[in-house]
Parts: sequence; structure tokens; C-alpha cells
Amino acid sequence: MKLAFIGLGNMGYPMAGHLAHQGYDVTVFNRTTHKAIKWAAEYGQGYAATIQRAVHKADIIFSCVGNDDDLRAVTLGTEGVLHHAKSGAIMVDHSTVSAECSKQIAQLFAQKHIHFVDAPVSGGQLGAQKGQLSIMCGAETHIFNAIEPVLKSYGKTIVHMGEVGSGQLTKMVNQICVAGLLQGLAEGIYFAQQAGIDVHKAMSVISQGAASSWQMVNRYPTMLNGEYHFGFAVDWMRKDLDICLAEAAKNGLKLPVTQTVNGFYQELQQLGNGRLDTSSLLLRLQQISSAD
Ligand SMILES: NC(=O)c1ccc[n+]([C@@H]2O[C@H](COP(=O)([O-])OP(=O)(O)OC[C@H]3O[C@@H](n4cnc5c(N)ncnc54)[C@H](OP(=O)(O)O)[C@@H]3O)[C@@H](O)[C@H]2O)c1
Repeated sequence: MKLAFIGLGNMGYPMAGHLAHQGYDVTVFNRTTHKAIKWAAEYGQGYAATIQRAVHKADIIFSCVGNDDDLRAVTLGTEGVLHHAKSGAIMVDHSTVSAECSKQIAQLFAQKHIHFVDAPVSGGQLGAQKGQLSIMCGAETHIFNAIEPVLKSYGKTIVHMGEVGSGQLTKMVNQICVAGLLQGLAEGIYFAQQAGIDVHKAMSVISQGAASSWQMVNRYPTMLNGEYHFGFAVDWMRKDLDICLAEAAKNGLKLPVTQTVNGFYQELQQLGNGRLDTSSLLLRLQQISSAD
């Protein structure tokens, strides 16, 4: 089976690496070619300088790029997958984009007998590195069955949610749950720092109790060290929360906490912190307090 992988960012680089480690024949493409050259040297596999060369023989094409426009560029652009994948190929997209975007691409692909799967992921950069991602898929059942064994290369939990678009709707639920939780975690640590208790001890004990979460377990040590130059970028979270709020508005829903936290992330962006990890909500609280 020949595989192609488009987008070797924080997530795509290790995900494509797991496919190579499983013994698949993988050709990667990255817009900035030096990352593809580095990946190919590290994993002993091929890279291509164009999407066309990466995908034209591929049975399954994976992508993990940025937003709706980025996904449209790599799929529908003149150099995109739509024009160069073979009939019968399957494209599995791991980017977080709108459900509408996924459905539109799937319809256009279907006209060329290319199958499209929206398969956003959760678990962060660490989950990608460890090969322990949660993957939520929107696809026809027989297509899901065909890709599931390959997704096991880097997926711990892989669930078929329904038709194309339902993977992205599930990812929206994830982001809505995470937004308020991260602000709560930032406020808890901020409070502990001001309360004069041993914050490391406080976090180590409560992370074993009812307040525990993936974010708390994985992020409190880095938050206490003021480390934010890694992980899931504020810019990506802003994109995701905008998608969630637009989808909610379509259904006449208000999401007050999501809306508020989205505003906090906007403030971080305005201060030039868009590439920091989403746990930098603590930095925002500390900066507000030092400005007072
Ligand atoms: N990081 C996380 O923890 C995390 C967790 C879950 C989901 N996600 C989602 O996964 C996706 C990727 O995230 P990431 O953190 O890996 O992002 P990233 O590190 O910024 O990497 C983005 C990748 O997409 C490529 N790309 C972006 N726009 C492109 C375009 N128009 N044409 C071609 N290539 C393009 C970039 O190429 P260049 O190298 O040339 O810039 C890069 O390889 C996003 O949708 C994000 O929301 C991320």
C-alpha cells in the first residue's frame, strides 16, 4: 500500500513518522521543502517537491495542515489532490476545519471517485509523538473500515462518528470542552500563586483528584515554568473556537464560556502571542495583574 502525507507540522511530522515505523511506503510533501527533506532523512522514506508527485500513486493520502483555506489550497488548488490523486484513492484529513469545508471537498472529490474522510484528532503534539491520538472520523462505513487499521499507527481511540462532517462536529465538542477548562486551570494556578502555598505540591495533589484533566496533568508543570513555545498554538485555537461559535450560531445556540475564552485568546494574539501554546491563558492573567 502506498501512502502520501501532506503537512509536516507539529502534528503531521510525528504522525507520518509512525506510518513509516509501521513499515508503510510513505511519500511526504511539505510546503516548506526543507522539513520534508529532514523527515525523509530521519525515516528513510521519500519526499516530493510537489503535491502531484507525492499523491499520484498513493492509495491513501493524509493531510494535516492549518485552516479551511489551507485545506482548500492542498485539495482544490491547481496543484491540489483533486487534480492528481488516482481514481479510488482515499484522502484522510487530520486538520481541524469547518464541517462545511469537509463536506464541500468530499462532494467535489466524489465526482472524481476519490473518497474523503474528515478525521480531526485530539491528544496534542505529545499524543502525536507517542502515537496515542483520539481520532474522530466522518466517512462512509466501508471507507472507515479500510483506513482504520492504518490509523492505528498513531491512534489510540479511533471512532467512526457517521457521515463526512461528523468528525469535525465532534472535534468542535472537544474544543468547546477544552476552552473553559483551560481558563479554569489558568485561574486555579494563578490563585495558588497568589495564595502563598506551594503551587507544585498543590497541583501534584489535585491532579490526582476530581479536578484532574489531560490539560492539568500535561500542562501544569510547563505553565509553572512559564514554558509556552510548544504545543497547540493560540492561533489554531482561535480558528477552532470561531468555527465552534459559527456552527453554534447556525443552530441558534449561545456558548458564553467559549465566547469569553475566545476573546481572551484574541487578546493574546494582539500581544503577538499567537504561536504560544493555549495554556498561555495563565500568562495573560499574570500580565493583566502586573499591568494593574
Ligand atoms: N498542535 C496541536 O496540538 C494540534 C492538536 C490537534 C489538532 N491540531 C490541528 O492540526 C492541524 C495542524 O496543526 P499543527 O500544530 O501541526 O500546525 P503547524 O505546526 O503550524 O503545521 C502546519 C502544517 O501545515 C502546512 N500548511 C499550512 N498551510 C498550508 C498551505 N496553505 N499549503 C500547504 N501547506 C500548508 C505547514 O507547512 P509549512 O511548514 O510550509 O508552514 C505545516 O506543515 C491544525 O488544523 C490544528 O488545528 C493541532
